[in-house]
Amino acid sequence: MILIIDFGSQYNQLIARRVRELRVFCRIEPPHISVDAIQQMNPEGIILSGGPASIYEKNSPKMDPAVFRLGVPVLGICYGFQFMVDALGGSVGGSEKREYGFALLQMKKNEGLFSGIPRQTRCWMSHGDIIKRLPKGFEPTASTENSPVAAAADPKRTFFGLQFHPEVHHTPLGKKMLKNFLFDICGCRPTWTMSAFARNTIQEIRDAVGQQKVILGLSGGVDSSVTAVLLHRAVGGNLTCIFVDNGLLRRNEAADLKKTFSEHLHIPIRFVRAGQRFLTALKGITDPEKKRKIIGRVFMEVFEAEASKIQNVQFLAQGTLYPDVIESMSAFGGPTSIIKSHHNVGGLPRKMKLKLVEPLRYLFKDEVRILGKKLGLPDSWIWRQPFPGPGLAIRIIGSVTRDRLSILRHVDTLLEEEIRAAGFYKRLWQSFAVLLPLKSVGIMGDHRTYENIAAIRAVTSKDAMTADWAKLPHALLGKMSNRIINEVRGVNRVVYDISSKPPSTIEWE
Ligand code: XMP
Repeated sequence: MILIIDFGSQYNQLIARRVRELRVFCRIEPPHISVDAIQQMNPEGIILSGGPASIYEKNSPKMDPAVFRLGVPVLGICYGFQFMVDALGGSVGGSEKREYGFALLQMKKNEGLFSGIPRQTRCWMSHGDIIKRLPKGFEPTASTENSPVAAAADPKRTFFGLQFHPEVHHTPLGKKMLKNFLFDICGCRPTWTMSAFARNTIQEIRDAVGQQKVILGLSGGVDSSVTAVLLHRAVGGNLTCIFVDNGLLRRNEAADLKKTFSEHLHIPIRFVRAGQRFLTALKGITDPEKKRKIIGRVFMEVFEAEASKIQNVQFLAQGTLYPDVIESMSAFGGPTSIIKSHHNVGGLPRKMKLKLVEPLRYLFKDEVRILGKKLGLPDSWIWRQPFPGPGLAIRIIGSVTRDRLSILRHVDTLLEEEIRAAGFYKRLWQSFAVLLPLKSVGIMGDHRTYENIAAIRAVTSKDAMTADWAKLPHALLGKMSNRIINEVRGVNRVVYDISSKPPSTIEWE
């Protein structure tokens, strides 16, 4: 495995993605990890990530320099390179010009990291400081116009440094450089596959859980579904999946879940119908954050009540993914500073005093999808778009009523049908409707109508942190609008949301 030290770069997850694409397992850890802990992990190589700080700033992140005495190859990227230079006795200083964007990299030799790479190639720079003097044993291996030392190596100790970012697509041969580091320098082998992961994880769960009981809150999303299948493989009947129907779901949601789990995967589920309870608690509530809090609280009460019917439960399984784990232990944020307010299951384990099982905590979303496929989840399930925990409640502006839910559910069904039929479903991060209980005048046949507005929201995104509004074909927009206005009673106007995130958000509430 490869250990990545997170110095706070916006690209650190990309480094991990690239390493895993090369089928080598890697983990990201904060700089304050102890050298003992590193030794226990026994990494074949260490990558020091970039970061926004300057090495001479007072609170810039540092790690124990004993890492350079482990005899393990180290690759420093940008800030990571500067940290290495500083720690080993060289010097780093401010540069006249900040270098940001493309630069032409001139290599001195095509060996080591640069083996098999032409002497000139483009790279992506983003830094203020530069290397002024290299530590003993290092030699410069490449330069750009503004960085005389754009790369350096100490081949004897297998230390390498890159001032640019090999992990971004803008450095076209960056992946080849990482590949050289992993396979030629660290001696890794490309053995990280989802089948191997599934096998090992199932065994690990068995070892940890033994004959004890586990509960899991199934939401119908990809993450909790894949967690359920893994757990079921590992502990069989000792797993109880609980699905809370909060009455805020899309049409057929509960039935589809039943079909996929009970019939297709033979995993029994406890269904709890609690729609009325949620609706009562939400009565008259218009503030989005209040809606979320109420839904979170009622969910917890319902889930707890159901779970308490099962004797001797020791574990709670959750589908936490790696990006959340990384964020919560990032170099700069405290463990609680970044956890999103909408992780409404987060309060459960503390209250219920259960031990957590989080088998996906080292995986990225696309890896979870591959794993789900390997475990036999149908494609249609694996490629479901994300659906928020508070469901349709945050897609109805203002208070949530049974009638409004029913209108929105109908709109949502038509929209999904058309998006799927046009082949856009998988290409969009999310596509959905929002009900604006604002009335406007329309005309149907010879009648004047005075009805609600439905907004269509469709976005592309990689991780929901940023998103672009989707440039859907006009014909598709027209078809959706026609069908919605003609088929859904209570809507006489459809608008398309053309805002990106930021400054807007994906959901309207
Ligand atoms: P925003 O609206 O913040 O959404 O741009 C980003 C992503 O998060 C989802 N989302 C939620 N998911 N509970 C959830 O489980 C919530 O309260 C919630 N709010 C937003 C949203 O669908 C999008 O994918």
